[in-house]
Order: sequence, then C-alpha cells, then structure tokens
Amino acid sequence: MPSLSVNIDHVATLRQARLESFPDPVQAATAVELGGADGITVHLRNDRRHITNRDVELLRATVKTELTVEMAGTEELVRLIARVRPDQVTLVPELRSEVTTTSGIDLLRERRKLEPVVQRLKKAGIRVSMFIEPDTAQVEAAGVLGADVVELNTDRYSRGWTRKPALLDELVRASGAAGAAGVAVHVGHGLDYRNVVPILQKRVAAGYSIGFSIVARAVFVGLKDAVAEMRRIMEVYSCERC
Ligand code: PXP
Repeated sequence: MPSLSVNIDHVATLRQARLESFPDPVQAATAVELGGADGITVHLRNDRRHITNRDVELLRATVKTELTVEMAGTEELVRLIARVRPDQVTLVPELRSEVTTTSGIDLLRERRKLEPVVQRLKKAGIRVSMFIEPDTAQVEAAGVLGADVVELNTDRYSRGWTRKPALLDELVRASGAAGAAGVAVHVGHGLDYRNVVPILQKRVAAGYSIGFSIVARAVFVGLKDAVAEMRRIMEVYSCERC
C-alpha cells in the first residue's frame, strides 16, 4: 500500500487571507493524521505567504507520522531546516510570481548548485526528495545527485489524463528509470479523487503527495473524512489481490 502525505498549505492560506491565528495548520495536521494519512507536507516558501517558521517548528514537535517540508535550496532555508530536521525535504523550484509550484527542478542545469544542499540536508539526517518532471534524464540526474526520492510532477498528467493516455505512460517510464537508479518514487501535484486511480492501478509510486483536492473536499465533509476518502481509494485501487 503506497503512502499518503497530505499538503496542508491551503489551511495556512485561509489563515493568512485574514492575517488571523486560525485555522491553524498544526490543528489541521492532527485531523489529517486521524483520517489515516501517513504524513504531513508543508511548503515553506521564501515569501512565507502561507506556512511560517512557527508552523514548521510546531509541526516538528507535534506530527506523529512523517513531516515533509517542500522548499527551494536557499541558504536561509537550508540553515533553518537542517536545525528543525523534518523527516524529508522535497527540493522544489520557486518563482515569486507563481500561484503554486509550476514545474519540476531542471537538475541538468541546477546540479552544481544542489550538490552542497543535498549533502548538508543528508548530514542533518534528512531524507532528500527532488520534485522533477517525469523524464528519464531528470530521474538519472537525481540518482547521481544522491536523491533518496524523486517526486514526479503530475501537473501535466492531471490536466490532460482523460485525453492523452501518453501522459500516464510518461509517469510509468520515469518510475521504471527511478527503480533502475535505486531511487524511490513519489508523485504529486494536481492529483484528486479521480485522476489518482490510473496511477494507483499502474503502481507508479510508493508515495502520494496531495493537497488542494483534499482540503477543498474538507470544506464539505471535514478534513478527517476528506483524508479517509482518499485513503480508501488508495487502498482499493492498489490492492494486489483484487
Ligand atoms: N508536490 C509538490 C512539490 C507541490 O509543490 C505541491 C503543491 O504545493 C503538491 C505536491 C500538492 O499539489 P496539490 O495541492 O495540487 O495536490
């Protein structure tokens, strides 16, 4: 059964919309864990537009499953996160103007810059994941850089999966390349209660990072049930005996 880490940035986005102290992502993390998630993910952005240092520190102290921090490899963030020590860091590219992460890191271009970042995070005992496009050359570069995990960007798949079956094949191929390179595969971005099914059926990934669709569903059914519904879908469609 693959694992589910729920991204709770959008709870913090709601809080920041009013510059209030609620809803608190730390409280949300507890509900997510009660719903059966295997982990909590937050993106600590350079501009701190949603998740803040306070959130990450409190989550580290309270999350009972696994804490993943998504971040760009800047000096300030590496120093902070090496001290906080989440279970995993997912390195992502970051543009100030974007609404959400738009594409994977280009490891063929960023390799030199990332080498020392990976070493520092690993030295702090943190598992390192890299958010990349589902492309064999990117997967191999992640292996060379010493990534423990690649998170394949499912943004294009999520937008086009009903029209273009090749988008799923792309994920399957990249997952095979990661297996050959000895790197674990996660997937994330734009996944929801429907488009996640073919990926589960093809057994593309060991880990799923899902945020927006679950938090959006939570508006109607509550966070714990929204997570439990996703967990149930994952259980049914990854069942090896069914
Ligand atoms: N993985 C990464 C690297 C992301 O940046 C995001 C969005 O914050 C997600 C997964 C989750 O995407 P979504 O909110 O669309 O489920």
